[in-house]
Amino acid sequence: MPCTAPGSPAPAAVLCGLAGWVPPRVVTNDDLAERLDTDDTWIRTRTGIHRRHVIEPGQATSDLAVEAGRRVLRSAGCDTVDAVLVTTTTPDRPCPATAPAVAARLGLEGVAAFDVGAVCTGFVYGLATASGLIASGVAERVLLIGADTYSTIVDPLDRANAIIFGDGAGAVVLRAGDADEAGAIGHFDLGSDGAHEDLITVAAGGSRQRSAPGEVSNEDRYFAMRGKEVYRHAVTRMADSARTTLSKAGWKIDDVEHFVPHQANLRILHSVADDLGLPRERCVSHVASVGNTGAASIPLALADAVAQQMIRPGGRVLLTAFGGGLTWGSCLLTWPVLPPVHPYDQGEETAS
Ligand code: COA
Repeated sequence: MPCTAPGSPAPAAVLCGLAGWVPPRVVTNDDLAERLDTDDTWIRTRTGIHRRHVIEPGQATSDLAVEAGRRVLRSAGCDTVDAVLVTTTTPDRPCPATAPAVAARLGLEGVAAFDVGAVCTGFVYGLATASGLIASGVAERVLLIGADTYSTIVDPLDRANAIIFGDGAGAVVLRAGDADEAGAIGHFDLGSDGAHEDLITVAAGGSRQRSAPGEVSNEDRYFAMRGKEVYRHAVTRMADSARTTLSKAGWKIDDVEHFVPHQANLRILHSVADDLGLPRERCVSHVASVGNTGAASIPLALADAVAQQMIRPGGRVLLTAFGGGLTWGSCLLTWPVLPPVHPYDQGEETAS
């Protein structure tokens, strides 16, 4: 393990690799309209989503995480890291965590590996956790993967939620570096409000309500969300968190060239941008093509924007997320020179 010389500043976490992966199967709004009382126009107008990717039966979150992890390690030219963090709301099982299995399948046996749970804010919480591991000298390189398979927890007959979510994984490698170099992640704002835990929930399957056969209603087994209330909280919390982070860093809203929010839905993203006084063109969104991919949404959106050369080295980037808990968080970075980032692959899985 690395250690920091006494008196020297704590190292910062610096972004040095980015990749994403979505499963090949596409579900369009018209596909959903074949089995649900909905239509393409309603979904596009209310959410901005046109299609999403979903796993095949038998696949799990770790399968996506491994695909994204393999790609980011290859692109960062990295054959080892000191820690693997997987942030997800859809772990393979309640126990154990998903990260150790992902680490083993990536050939990273023996490294620290654990899950970070903060629902759709997971990626920003994961960046903060990775930054802490690096600043404390516990790790020099961290692989952070946001991966979710909401198709496994959303009731396929629930038209309000089935239209919103998609499956995917996004990954970054962070290395120890200097706080003033491009790619250094900094000036975090993290928060939570557990008084509203019921707004986004899967009621059963935990210690409060086990999933014993015959004892759990379908409703409690599946993901539930009070959409209208979530909408209001998402806009307020993300805008406030973004402002707090900017003020900690001494940045003005005009300094932000690329705002990359959690891809909840397009109306939420535009409302947050409007609240901040940020031109909507600076708000990165690819929700149309993948839907809301939970903890994967920010790294997937980044990978897409970088591959399309919308985000270039030197660009000032603000990340902001919101999710169940409730949780929220933001952080900033100046975009570094990275190895080429491909648009999130949609090809066949590679052998594990
Ligand atoms: N297709 C057609 N009609 C639908 C529908 C669908 N897929 N889903 C809901 N409806 C209906 C409702 O049943 C309701 O009908 P009613 O008026 O007869 O009762 C009507 O549309 C309006 O429903 P409502 O829930 O008020 O719609 P909305 O404008 O609030 O949009 C969401 C619903 C879910 C799109 C919206 O609340 C939302 O975006 N919430 C935030 C969700 C989100 O992004 N969460 C992630 C945060 S991490």
